[in-house]
Amino acid sequence: MMTPEEVSKHPQVVALETTSELLSLLTIIRDRETPRADFIFYSDRIIRLLVEEALNHLPFIAHDVVTPTGQTYHGFAAKGRICGVSIMRAGEAMEQGLRDCCRSVRIGKILIQRDEETAQPELFYAKLPPDISSRYCLLLDPMLATGGSAKKAIDVLVKTGVQEAQILFVNLVCAPEGIENVLKDFPKIKIVTAAIDAGLDDHKYILPGLGDFGDRYFGSA
Ligand code: PRP
Ligand code: URA
Repeated sequence: MMTPEEVSKHPQVVALETTSELLSLLTIIRDRETPRADFIFYSDRIIRLLVEEALNHLPFIAHDVVTPTGQTYHGFAAKGRICGVSIMRAGEAMEQGLRDCCRSVRIGKILIQRDEETAQPELFYAKLPPDISSRYCLLLDPMLATGGSAKKAIDVLVKTGVQEAQILFVNLVCAPEGIENVLKDFPKIKIVTAAIDAGLDDHKYILPGLGDFGDRYFGSA
């Protein structure tokens, strides 16, 4: 199994820079004493950083504009269209962060739930933008543990015609075994994450992790 350090150096993995600020935000959401309102607020802050970083890894082309001073500015413009796809339910928490950066962005949904006993993912539903195969796709899920749910979701996208290299998996906290599992089957996707943790417990929860993201964000148990 890869170590967290090896994962962080993998060419397909983009880990946010571990600034003191990012570490302080992660500390708040990892703390089991953090009340729900703070969990939502600080998760949303990290999600915003993740979305901005993910957008950085999409292609851009040269684009000139004329400024009000009459000068030409040799700039850049995004090349190609994007969409979001959230893995429900926890991935839905990341939709607003994407909308805040990309006005009117199309967002597809894939409902996958892990069985609480076996941790095996089950696919219940998928509804995707009809032209998704011509778009870059930001796949949203805050937790990547065994990688089973992410692989099922990526499989749905690939079967719908999305090229692997068009998929960016955007994630808050992951385990090395999950990353390895996903990249073994889909080596061309990119994974943007805020934290690579040590591993998994016997119930396939991330260690040290932050517990059940969906329950803490949406207030269920
Ligand atoms: C969580 C999480 C991922 C999955 C990660 O969802 O949001 O989708 O588990 O685990 P894996 O990598 O081992 O598949 P869960 O199925 O618990 O549902 P939720 O979104 O309703 O919390
Ligand atoms: N899903 C979560 O919400 N947390 C984990 O640690 C693993 C899966």
